[in-house]
Amino acid sequence: MTLRTLDSLGSLTGKRVLVRCDLNVPLKDGVITDDGRVRASLATINALVDQGARVILISHLGRPDGSPDPQYSLRPVAERLSELLDKPVAFAEDTVGASAQQAVDALADGDVALLENLRFNAEETSKSADERSAFAARLASFGDAFVSDGFGVVHRKQASVYELASALPSAAGLLIAAELDVLERLTEKPERPYTVVLGGSKVSDKLGVIGHLLPKVDTLLIGGGMLFTFLAAQGFRVGGSLLEADQIDTVKGYLAEATERGVQIVLPTDVVVASKFGADAEHTVTSAETIEETPFGQSGLGLDIGPETGAEFARIIEASKTVFWNGPMGVFELAPFAEGTRAVADALTRVDGLGVVGGGDSAAAVRALGFTDEQFGHISTGGGASLEFLEGKRLPGLEVLGW
Ligand code: 3PG
Ligand code: MG
Repeated sequence: MTLRTLDSLGSLTGKRVLVRCDLNVPLKDGVITDDGRVRASLATINALVDQGARVILISHLGRPDGSPDPQYSLRPVAERLSELLDKPVAFAEDTVGASAQQAVDALADGDVALLENLRFNAEETSKSADERSAFAARLASFGDAFVSDGFGVVHRKQASVYELASALPSAAGLLIAAELDVLERLTEKPERPYTVVLGGSKVSDKLGVIGHLLPKVDTLLIGGGMLFTFLAAQGFRVGGSLLEADQIDTVKGYLAEATERGVQIVLPTDVVVASKFGADAEHTVTSAETIEETPFGQSGLGLDIGPETGAEFARIIEASKTVFWNGPMGVFELAPFAEGTRAVADALTRVDGLGVVGGGDSAAAVRALGFTDEQFGHISTGGGASLEFLEGKRLPGLEVLGW
């Protein structure tokens, strides 16, 4: 099957078009710290505005508990959108209530409105298909057509991603189409050597990914918080570092499977260990085998890969033809622990082939470190979604668009 694209909806002039974006941006004290996902959403919005559609944007932000919570309001995003689109963006203070209805009714051709966070409504993420369908029907009443463009959520079976696409004539937007173009190059005959770099904090989130990727890649580089569970699986002591002890056996299984398959899993040989979690912490570099032998003893915290590891990862990345990277190597938000992530990002800009940064956190990391989007082959807006895609999973939000 092929993905239904925007043109399949015909002329949208004068039509009310609901657009599901992923405007889930990082905020600090109400200020957007990385607007990459807002920018990535502009192509579709502008295409609809140019056609004279009445554009109704919907998105989630963060993980509120199913009721309104001001810290997760999309209001700052409406303001940013308005600046980037260079036109007013009406903001509705609810998602399917009176304010939303009013905002929709007030739209003229070519106007744009953003409704409040979808996840302020428990039905959006409900486990009950009936509840999700009922919520999708209320959203659908606002529109004549639906464009799904939140690539970062296509792996979620949620009302605005899944049920809504069946409640109205629907198609994928330009961002989803562009993301799939690149990710298909990674899944269909990637040029080899093919290296995947995994970081981030939670091993349990990524374990399934590792199992599915082993048959597909040549080399896996492991950094981030999960590296300590790998080191523990090799029998090393990791001090106070992040450790998911209940995952050690699974990790051992993957290490054995990798050996059998001839896949290289490369683990850090040195790490940056700190006295505490903070930018002002004392810190030192030590071998992966001697984490508890620094002045901080058993309470030392590993917060980044070390320089020897950074250089080795960089060498492997630069020698690869296809590289996908998801998850920071260390606590890049704190300057003393950003070098591992910087080394990987820097190497990725020099890949002679396709180098992809996958996901919100990794994308925010490279921008925070001063890299520009143009330096990479592609920056995906979806971390979880792109990983599940690479694993070969069927993604509900794409299936419902005919893919
Ligand atoms: C993300 O940031 O990963 C996407 O916006 C999806 O959000 P979620 O993981 O809370 O569903
Ligand atoms: Mg996520």
